[in-house]
Amino acid sequence: MAPPDTAPPLSEAPYEGAIDRGLEGVVACTTSISAIAGTTLLYRGYTIEELAANATFEEVVYLLWFGRLPRREELAEFERRLHADMPLPPESFGWFHGLPTRVHPMDFLHAVVAGLSLHDPEANIIDDVASLRKSTRLTARLGTIVTAYHRVRSGQWPLQPAPGRSLAWNFLYMLHGREPSPEHVRDFDTCLILHADHELNASAFSARVTSSTLSGIYSSVMAAIGTLKGPLHGGANEEVVRMLLEIRKPSRVDAFLDEAFAARRKVMGFGHRVYKEGDPRAKILARMAERLTREAGVPELYVMSKRLEERMAAEKGLIPNVDFFSGSVYHALGIPVDLFTPIFASSRVAGWCAHILEQYRNNRIYRPRGRYVGPKDLRYQPIDER
Ligand SMILES: CC(C)(COP(=O)(O)OP(=O)(O)OC[C@H]1O[C@@H](n2cnc3c(N)ncnc32)[C@H](O)[C@@H]1OP(=O)(O)O)[C@@H](O)C(=O)NCCC(=O)NCCS
Repeated sequence: MAPPDTAPPLSEAPYEGAIDRGLEGVVACTTSISAIAGTTLLYRGYTIEELAANATFEEVVYLLWFGRLPRREELAEFERRLHADMPLPPESFGWFHGLPTRVHPMDFLHAVVAGLSLHDPEANIIDDVASLRKSTRLTARLGTIVTAYHRVRSGQWPLQPAPGRSLAWNFLYMLHGREPSPEHVRDFDTCLILHADHELNASAFSARVTSSTLSGIYSSVMAAIGTLKGPLHGGANEEVVRMLLEIRKPSRVDAFLDEAFAARRKVMGFGHRVYKEGDPRAKILARMAERLTREAGVPELYVMSKRLEERMAAEKGLIPNVDFFSGSVYHALGIPVDLFTPIFASSRVAGWCAHILEQYRNNRIYRPRGRYVGPKDLRYQPIDER
């Protein structure tokens, strides 16, 4: 039988451009939001140490979106709008309570953001004004969703955010059902600041890729949530505390590491694509973890962490990243382990939105190439001849 009439065989060589696995070394865009240089992290030109010591999360969100620190009246107006958007819209109440509650909270967050987009008449409008309004709604609401999810799965009624209080205050209040101490609010606020943005990390890149097709902010943030969830990115903070709880006591750290090294298993919370000499966020979080684990009566978490750090540096040359000490901080604040990555999302959403806004303002669709290494010149075989 004559071969079917098909397109001519692939005669051109597959794309031969240089390959950077994992896009290491590829500069995919210009950005003026944040920068990593050596062991320094800058948001809009300010070091993370400077912001962690002096700013509030709300101020940092303003800085990331508008490129400068707000004046007093600008901050007051910005906070008023952000805090007013914290409650979930009433039209979501019907379906919110019908969603499954035995799922990972990141999957729940993903589903609720999709649900909220269906009720947002501006969901697919991508001009600057609508995009900023949606950024405000998303940044205000992610923490509300996470805490409401936890209350519902624990058989409790979700709490409404208290007006006039910060996102950090309200997160702890809506989670625990009691007013948080000013010290815990300050620590939690600092954690939000430290996680708010990080140059072209995997989830920000996802957000930018999605928005580069001129898809809306909700779709872009959903792509970012899905990307953050993985254990090689934001999911690592949960794995770190599970590891520490499994090790249980400082005397068991060495045996744990010997076994992990022998099995060539990754130790979560260590290593970074960009930082090789130290992650400045981890240094701030280490100090916080030392104090908070002591105050919470679980100092062994910090002692174990320091031993892990010592051996990982000496034997693998790997540094603790942002996820290594944040887990102990959240655990000491009485936060359930599976909420750690959703907290990361509740802060990083500010950075995602900044990247999406920047992408829209100077857009070109992301479309890299893949080098084809599969078979060529195959002919279609009728189904009975395969
Ligand atoms: C962060 C991370 C994904 C960066 O990945 P990357 O830039 O591709 O780094 P690589 O995986 O190429 O690492 C280089 C080497 O160090 C090893 N390595 C990296 N992180 C490691 C870890 N946490 N534990 C043990 N070994 C590790 C790799 O196995 C690799 O070794 P090899 O060259 O013998 O194969 C990676 O370090 C990692 O998986 N860390 C654990 C997860 C984590 O904490 N993620 C949060 C990031 S903020």
